Amino acid sequence: MTQPLTIVVLSTGLDNFKAIRAALSVDGRVQLLAGGNDAEQLHEEIIRLKPAAALISLGANADQAIKVIERLVTEAPRTALITAAQDASPDLILRSLRAGAREFLRLPISQDELKTVLDRVQEYCSGQVEAPKKKGRMIAVFSSKGGCGTSFVATNLAAATAARTVLVDLNLQAGDLPLFLGLDPKYSFADMSEHRNRLDDALIGSFVTPHSSNLSLLAAPKEADSADEIEPEHVFEVLQRLRESYDYVVLDPQHTFDSITLAALDQADEIVLVLTLDIPAIRSTQRALEIFDRLGYPRQKVRIVVNRWSKQIDLDLRQVEKFLGEPVIGFIPSDYQTAVTSINLGQPLVQSDAGSKIAIEIKRIAQTIASGAVPIQENQTPRPAFWKSLFKRHAAPNALELQISSTDFSL
Ligand SMILES: Nc1ncnc2c1ncn2[C@@H]1O[C@H](COP(=O)(O)OP(=O)(O)OP(=O)(O)O)[C@@H](O)[C@H]1O
Ligand SMILES: [Mg+2]
Repeated sequence: MTQPLTIVVLSTGLDNFKAIRAALSVDGRVQLLAGGNDAEQLHEEIIRLKPAAALISLGANADQAIKVIERLVTEAPRTALITAAQDASPDLILRSLRAGAREFLRLPISQDELKTVLDRVQEYCSGQVEAPKKKGRMIAVFSSKGGCGTSFVATNLAAATAARTVLVDLNLQAGDLPLFLGLDPKYSFADMSEHRNRLDDALIGSFVTPHSSNLSLLAAPKEADSADEIEPEHVFEVLQRLRESYDYVVLDPQHTFDSITLAALDQADEIVLVLTLDIPAIRSTQRALEIFDRLGYPRQKVRIVVNRWSKQIDLDLRQVEKFLGEPVIGFIPSDYQTAVTSINLGQPLVQSDAGSKIAIEIKRIAQTIASGAVPIQENQTPRPAFWKSLFKRHAAPNALELQISSTDFSL
C-alpha cells in the first residue's frame, strides 16, 4: 500500500477552505491533516506535522501567505508547497514560485489540474532521498520479579547519561514513572502509537514530557483502555523511531515475558537485569537468563546489577555469580530513606543528591554501559548445585527447597 498524501491547507476563509477540502476529498490518496485561515497557527502545524504538501491560498493578503512560504522553505524543506489563487496572473504565479512554491493551482480547483499537481507531489515525495538514520542506544532495565527497584534504577540511569535520552514507561497498564520524575504528562505511549506512521522529531517531541534539557519521559497511558489497543508491533515501530531521535532510549518494561515486553527486549542493545540478593530474586534472575538463552540473546547483551546491596547480606557473591554464570557489573547500595525521598520529591537521585552512594554507583554503571565494557567472568557455566553454596552460612534447608522447586516459564 502506498503512503497517504498528507496535506495541510491554509485557506483565505471558510468558503475557500470548504471548496478546497471538497476538491481534495475526491482524490483517494489525500489525507487532510489540518486546515484553517490562521497563518501563524497553520505555519506551526506544518512544522510539527511535516505533511507531504501544504496548500496555501493566496487571497487579498497574498503578501502574508508569500512570507509563510518563504519561511516554510527552510523550516519544512520536505513539504511540497502548492499555492492556489483565483488570480492566476503570471506575476502572482512567479512571485509564489520565487518564494519557494513547487506548484500553482487555479481556483476554483479543476479536478484534472489537481490530479496532475498531486501526481507531481507524490513523485517528488517518493524521489526524496532519506537522510541516513541515526541509531541511538536502547537499554532495557528489566527484572522478572517485581519490587527489585527497576523503575528507580531505570530513571536514575536515564538521568545519569550525558546525552539526549528518552525514558519509556512500558508498564502500559499501570506505569508510575511520572512520579519518579515529578511530571504530569499530557500525552502518552498511546498517542505515539496512534500516530506511529508519521512520527518525526517534532511530533515525537510533542508527545514526550521533558524533565530536563537532556531527559524526557514517554509515559504510559493514563487510561488502561488505550493501553489495550497497543500491539507489540506498534511498540516495535515506536521504539525504532525513538532511537532515530534520541541518543539513548531507556526502557522500563513489565516484569513478565509478555509479547510487549519481548518486543522491547528483542530490540534492546543491552538488558540491565536487576536483582536483589535474596533467593526468590536470584532464582528468578537465573530463569530470566535461561529464557534469554532460549530467545537467542547473546550473553554480552545482558548486564547484571544488584540493587539494595548491603554488606550485611549473608550471601557469597562469587557463588551467586557462578550460579548465574554471569558477572555482576554493579552493586547499588541499599538506602531506603535516600531512595524513597528522591522518589517522593520526583527528582532522580543522580541529580538531587549526586554525591550519595547510590547515585555514585548508578553513574559508574551508566559509564560502564556507555563505554561498552563487558566484564569477564572465568566460569560461565551455571550449575544448580551452587544453590547449596550460595550462603556464607547455612540456611534452613526447607527454605532452600521451597525456592528451588518451581515450574518452567512457557513462551
Ligand atoms: N537502592 C535502594 N535502596 C533502598 N530502597 C530502594 C532502592 N532502590 C529502590 N528502592 C525502593 O524499592 C521500592 C520499589 O522500587 P521500584 O518501584 O523502583 O521497583 P520496581 O521493581 O520498579 O517495582 P514494580 O514491581 O512496582 O515495578 C521503592 O520504594 C524504592 O524506594
Ligand atoms: Mg516499576
